[in-house]
Order: sequence, then structure tokens, then C-alpha cells
Amino acid sequence: MNAPSPPSTITGDTPARPLKRLFIRTWGCQMNVYDSARMADVLAPLGYAPAEAPEDADMVVLNTCHIREKASEKLFSELGRLRVLKQAKEQGGDRMILAVAGCVAQAEGAEITARAPYVDLVLGPQTYHRLPEMVARATRAAGAVIETDFPAEEKFDFLPDSTTPQGVTAFLTIQEGCDKFCSFCVVPYTRGSEYSRSAATVIAEARRLAAQGSREIALLGQNVNAWHGEGLDGKTWNLARLLRELADIEGVARLRYTTSHPRDMDDELIAAHGDIPALMPFLHLPVQSGSDRILQAMNRGHKADDYRRIAEKLRAARPDIALSSDFIAGHPGENEADHQATMALIRDVGFALAYSFKYSSRPGTPAAGATMQVPEAEKDRRLQEIQALLREQQDGFNRSCVGRRCDVLVTGPGRHPGQLAGRSPWLQPVHFVGAGQQPGDVIAVDVAAALPNSLAVHPLERPAGNGPPETSPQPPCQEKAAA
Ligand code: 5AD
Ligand code: SF4
Repeated sequence: MNAPSPPSTITGDTPARPLKRLFIRTWGCQMNVYDSARMADVLAPLGYAPAEAPEDADMVVLNTCHIREKASEKLFSELGRLRVLKQAKEQGGDRMILAVAGCVAQAEGAEITARAPYVDLVLGPQTYHRLPEMVARATRAAGAVIETDFPAEEKFDFLPDSTTPQGVTAFLTIQEGCDKFCSFCVVPYTRGSEYSRSAATVIAEARRLAAQGSREIALLGQNVNAWHGEGLDGKTWNLARLLRELADIEGVARLRYTTSHPRDMDDELIAAHGDIPALMPFLHLPVQSGSDRILQAMNRGHKADDYRRIAEKLRAARPDIALSSDFIAGHPGENEADHQATMALIRDVGFALAYSFKYSSRPGTPAAGATMQVPEAEKDRRLQEIQALLREQQDGFNRSCVGRRCDVLVTGPGRHPGQLAGRSPWLQPVHFVGAGQQPGDVIAVDVAAALPNSLAVHPLERPAGNGPPETSPQPPCQEKAAA
């Protein structure tokens, strides 16, 4: 599962005379960002062009995320604001179609139209391909149209090829859903069971992205390393095999995949990190807890030492690999010793980046009904301790990059005139004074300084885009935290 990011919007230049305009607000993970782009693709043939703001839109889609606390409160307060807009439009003789998509729509379908009867469409993540038909039905009919049926295979078969270039870095969903049923998590209920797209469709989409100018492709899935799709030879392939094929596509300089589960981190995939140069030395591998007792209560299916061993093997295969993770503080039943076991795991493994959350109960999940909920104040304290250690490790990792040489993918202009921005192999934002480099170039740089959230770098003389990708042979992140 992907760590949620702040809400984003799909906007853009509107063509001279668009028939209709579409505004999509996206909450949550990269998978939702990808889905929003695909919804825009499906609606383009109906004449919907991007709108700058909901005020300009004939249709507004709220693409929701159920992972975080208060997801539905946020949705209903946004809907309240949009209701005013919708009514104003109607008074002026215009119409605004209001749609709620994503995981909150899936989980709370009928509840949404009961509480907000002015919503026209409620659609779950597996039904976006049906949007045109739903829009037609909503336009004709009074009353809301609700579509929250699974399964994912249908969606991927029927969604049109993406037409909107994503830019230098692109996302490609290869897998959806989850069969793992972690005690705290809503994903198996909102995204359905695991489904892997075929290698042929993934490769075709990657080729299209590369032809449109994307140089880095991040493969997405709630359980992306559980991917096991039909291969080009008709046999079932695993993710390692798929990555090898994708690395051969001309124009693809960098590959990443997120989010992974430790249980699916098999030896072939670990080996792939050692011998696919395009596979970036950065892996988000959530562990959630360092206590075996809590890992068991979470139904994670692995122990803390399994995670330590995976980290060791990854570093043996690819010495410069940096790890990122997710942690939950205060899962039901967690005591001080469990918390200290999590702190110990963090110290032992060392993380370049991490997301940590206070456990919060999700209705319908096994942990929600568990006795022994941890008091809020205790969860707060544990979370603060975890975050302080992780912050120290992140700063230590960034500092360890100073003085090293690595490659940077140029993504676009920087914040200041004359500056360019890019990404290091370890996903750190990078800024430098440009000298003719273009977005899409992979350039060699020396890291000059670690700033709070980025690296300052100096480009080297090596001509842009020439030569193989290169990262420093030393492992910048293996110094464990200063703690
Ligand atoms: N409470 C707290 N954190 C959660 N996550 C998922 N569900 C919950 C919950 N109920 C966290 C996990 C997951 C990340 C995306 O969100 O750490 O990996
Ligand atoms: Fe949720 Fe666990 Fe599945 Fe990740 S593996 S999506 S945390 S149920």
C-alpha cells in the first residue's frame, strides 16, 4: 500500500472551446493519482477538458482515500462547499455533475448519497471504465448512480490507453487489491482481491509512456511485489521477470516499484536489485512493527528478523540501496516492550525515509473490534519517539550523501531562475544551476550539501544523457542512525 500524500488536482490548459470542463481532486496514494488521470482519459472522448478550479467545472470528481482518519469527514465538508457551487450553477441554468470516487466511495456508497443527496455519482475504484455510461445515466436521470462492484480485471480490459503524457516520471498500475487482510487495513475491503495485469498490457503501456517522454516509470500496486501476471510466453511471470523486460524498453532509464510486502520479497526479486541497473537503489518496504507479537496480531505473516534478513540480503545484492518503511504506533495490544522492539528494529535496519502513523481504528477491520486499545496519549508518545528516531536517520542518510557522486534525472525547472530540479536515485529532490540540461536527461553530479528536504548538487562535465547510470559504489545509507 502506498503512503498517502496531500491532495492534488488535475488541471491544465483548456483547449480553445472545450465542450465541458472537468475538475478532479485527488486524495491519498499514487494509485489514486494514476486513477484520476485514467478517469480524465475516459472522459476526454465525451468532451471533458481539464478545468482550473471547481468553479469552472461542469463535472467535479472527488477521488477519495480511506486510509487516513477522518476521511469521510473531510469528504463531507468538501461536498458541503461544492453543494453551494452546484446550486449557484443550477440557479444560472447550468448543471454540475458531482461524483465521489475512490475508496471512501467504495466503503460508504449508499451512506454518501443518503447524507449528500445532491451527489450524482458514487463509483468504486474498479468501475472507472464505466464512467461515460454513468455520466450519461446521471445526465438523464434524477437520483444518484452508484457503482461499487468489483472486479479489477474488467476495469483494466476496458479503460482506454492513456493519452495524456505524464512527464519525465510516470506511474503505471500493474496490480490492484490485496488478499493479505492485515488487521488494521481497509484496502482488502475497498480495492478487492489481488489482481495482476498481464505483462503484455503493462509492457505496451510502458512503451507508450517512454514514447511520450517518460524516463522513469514507477510500477504501482497495493501489493506490487505480489504481481504474478501472464507473461509474454503464456506462463506466469513474477515481478523480477517483468522488471527485466521493462528495463529493456528504449528510453526507460529508471524503474521503481511500490508498495511491497516483506512476504513477497523473494530471492529472485532481491537478485534483480543487484543486476538491473535501471532498478533504482531505493525500496519502500513497510514493516509496521518490530514486535513479533504485534506482527502476529496484525496478521502480517512474517517476523521482525525476517525483515532484518531481507534488508541484509538487499544490501548484499545492491550495496547502495536505501530503505523506506511504514510504522504504526499503538496497534491494539501493543505494550512498552513491543514499542521498544519497534525502536530496536529501526536502529538495526536504518531507514532513509519512513512514514509513521498512530493506529486509528477503521470500521469493519479486525483490529477495530479488538480489546486492549492503547490510550491516545500513549500512542502519541510512542509515535513521537518513533518519528524522532526516523527523522535522525533520514537526516543522517541525507548527510551521508554529501561528497558523493550519483546520477540525477532532470525533471524540470527549479524554484529559482536558472535552476533545474531533479531526483536522486534515492528519491531526494535535487536542485542545481542548469547549463543546457533538459528535462529527461540523466546527468552525473557531485552532492554538495544536504538541505532540510533536498540535496544541492553540482553537475559534472560528463555530457547529459551519455553513459550508463551510475551511483557511488559505497552505501550512503548504511551508516546506522547516529542514535
Ligand atoms: N491506522 C494507522 N495507520 C494505518 N495504515 C493503514 N491503516 C492504518 C490504520 N488503521 C498505514 C500503514 C500502511 C500505510 C499506508 O498506512 O502503515 O502501510
Ligand atoms: Fe493493507 Fe496489509 Fe494489504 Fe498492505 S498488505 S494493503 S497493509 S492489508
